Amino acid sequence: MQQVRRINTLDIIAKKNSQKLVCLTAYTYPIAKILDDFCDLILVGDSLGMAIYGHKDTLATNLEMTIAHTKTVVLATKKSLIVADVPFGSYEESPAKAFKTAAKIIKETGCDAVKIETSPAMISTIEFLTNRGIAVVAHVGLLSQHVRKIGGYKYQGRNQIAAEEILQTALLAAKAGAFAIVIEGVIEELAAKITKQVIVPTIGIGAGANCDGQILVIDDLLGLNQEFKPKFVKKYCDLVKIISDATDSYAKEVRFGTFPGPENITK
Ligand code: KIV
Repeated sequence: MQQVRRINTLDIIAKKNSQKLVCLTAYTYPIAKILDDFCDLILVGDSLGMAIYGHKDTLATNLEMTIAHTKTVVLATKKSLIVADVPFGSYEESPAKAFKTAAKIIKETGCDAVKIETSPAMISTIEFLTNRGIAVVAHVGLLSQHVRKIGGYKYQGRNQIAAEEILQTALLAAKAGAFAIVIEGVIEELAAKITKQVIVPTIGIGAGANCDGQILVIDDLLGLNQEFKPKFVKKYCDLVKIISDATDSYAKEVRFGTFPGPENITK
């Protein structure tokens, strides 16, 4: 029998220019267990606060939630590399604070790496973490933790200066030791340019087809989020319909007295 081992950061880097990286978010044990067979990387994104807790943006996601959900995703998986998103407010004030937070997440959950939303101000933080043994995924372009400052979920890097800043941030993040870079919400041409110039793999979301891999929020792929339907999302099934149909059948059977049936009853 072949031994299953977890994908590590070197495996991820080695896939650049050879194999597309398959990445998804997961927040719970049963879903992570299913995704593990198919993914290279699973992210416990700060989208957790929206997908699981119903918050309107990711700013409410806190360290306690991140640790609880990352712990269960690690327990549920054997193969995928597990990344925890470092939540808003828990790392930005200094590299030392970021180290403390990232180390706590890794120690308490057993995850493999952390993801840092990467404005230019975070490059020194990435360097501080990677120099101290923490594996970091950078995240450039649309930063959901900045959404209230930037005025909504808008494509970033639309003019030449902004595009250049995103490109430079990605290059500096790789130089600072990030082993992969999520590119979110930029036009395809910019994502392709970043992908060509950085030495580590890029993982796109709303960034076109030319990144080294793709990531989606699992609830969007499964059709669990009815209100959110941007162009970059592909709904692969309609879980809201599947769950509604199943619950409707159950409700009818309970009301008509046909559940539990003879096969469900111990005498
Ligand atoms: O939190 C999240 O789900 C993310 C993805 C959008 C990459 O950061």
